[in-house]
Amino acid sequence: MKRLFIAAGLALGFSLQAEAGDDADAFKARYQRPTSIPFPKDNPYTPEKAALGKMLFFDTRLSRDRNLSCASCHNPSFGWEVPFAKAIGAGGKPLGRHAPTAINLAWSQNLFWDGRAPTLEAQARGPIEADVEMDLPLGTALTRLKEVEGYRQAFSRAFPSDGLTEANILKAIATFERTLVTGITPFDRWVRGNDKAISDAAQRGFVLFNGKAACSGCHAGWNFTDDKFHDVGLPDADKGRSVVTKKAEDDFGMKTPGLREISARAPYMHDGSLATLEAVMGHYVAGGTARPTRSPLMKPVPLNGTEVADVIAFLRTLSSPQSVVTLPNLPAH
Ligand code: HEC
Ligand code: HEC
Repeated sequence: MKRLFIAAGLALGFSLQAEAGDDADAFKARYQRPTSIPFPKDNPYTPEKAALGKMLFFDTRLSRDRNLSCASCHNPSFGWEVPFAKAIGAGGKPLGRHAPTAINLAWSQNLFWDGRAPTLEAQARGPIEADVEMDLPLGTALTRLKEVEGYRQAFSRAFPSDGLTEANILKAIATFERTLVTGITPFDRWVRGNDKAISDAAQRGFVLFNGKAACSGCHAGWNFTDDKFHDVGLPDADKGRSVVTKKAEDDFGMKTPGLREISARAPYMHDGSLATLEAVMGHYVAGGTARPTRSPLMKPVPLNGTEVADVIAFLRTLSSPQSVVTLPNLPAH
C-alpha cells in the first residue's frame, strides 16, 4: 500500500509522499457502489414486471419485420451494446449514432447521447417507433402482443389493475433495464479494501485518472459519469445536446458515458469513431478539436507512454467477470 502511494505521489509530482497516499484513499471514497437501485414512485419494482420487461427486451415482435429486438443493439455479450460503430436498424441501414450501453441507467436522468428523454419509460418508445430502428407504432405493438395468450397473462400478473396497455409495455421494459447493474469488479474489491485486487499499474492509473489526467471532472462517481453533457472536441459534425436545447453553446455536447464494462464496449464515443482504449487515450492526450464549445475541463493532458498504459490498466479493472445472461422464454402464442 505504502509503495503505491509513493509511486502515485511521484506520478502526480507531489513533493509530500504522505499527501498522495491520503489522496488515493480520498479518491476511493468517491467510488463506493450504491446499496440499492432507485425505482421511481410511479413505477416501483416487482419481480413480475422485471421478468415481463426482460421478455419484451428480447422479443423481435416489437419490430415491424420481426427481426430486431432491443437486445439486437444492446447485446449482453458486448456490454449491452454492439461492436460496430453505427448500430444497424430496420431495413439494414446504419443509425446516426453508436449504441450506448443499457447498464446502470437506473441512475441516469438524461437518456440518449443528447439527453432528449428524461426517463427510461419515455426512452423506450423511441426505438420501437423510430423508422430507422424497429419501425413499429406502439399501437401496433400493443395489438400484436394482445394476440399472444402468454403476454396477456404476463401483463395481468405484472399490472393487476390495467393489464396490457401501451404505457405498461414501456413500464415493464424500464423496470427490467433498471435491474441491469454491473457486477462486482476487481476495482470494487480494491475500493472495499482488498489491496491486491488490482495491479500496481492499475492503482497508478486510478490516481492519474483522478489527478493529472483529469478524467474524473466528468467521469465522476461509482458509475464514472456526471450524467451531464460536454463537448470533448471530437471532429464529427453531430450537434448533440443543442439539437434538444436549441442553444449554440450546447453544440457538440454529448452525455458523459459511464465507464463500467468499458473493455467489452468497443468501439467508443457517440459515433463509434475510436476503435480502442488506446485511441481514446490518444484523443484525450491531444485534447480534441479546440473550439468555443469545447469543455473547459478538456485540455491536452501530457501523459507519457507508461502513464497512458496505467490509465488503460485501471479502466480494464472496471469489468466484472463474464456473467451468464439467460434468455427469457418467449411465449409462442
Ligand atoms: C437498431 C439498433 C437499436 C435498437 C433495436 C434499440 N436501440 Fe437503444 N439505442 C440505439 C442507439 C443508436 C442509441 C443512441 C441514440 C441516440 O443517442 O440518439 C440507443 C439508445 C438507447 C438508450 C439510451 C442509453 C443512454 O445512456 O442514454 C436506451 C436506454 C436504449 N437505447 C434502450 C433500448 C430499448 C429498451 C430498446 C428496445 C425497445 C432499444 N434500445 C432498441 C440503438 C438501438
Ligand atoms: C469534459 C468532460 C470529460 C473529460 C474531462 C473526460 N471525458 Fe471521457 N467522455 C466524456 C464524454 C462527453 C464522452 C462521450 C463523447 C462523445 O461521444 O462525443 C466521453 C467518452 C469517453 C469514453 C468512451 C465511452 C463510450 O461508451 O464510448 C471513454 C473510454 C472515456 N471517455 C474515458 C475518459 C478518460 C480516460 C478520460 C481522462 C483521460 C476522460 N474520459 C476525460 C466526457 C469527458
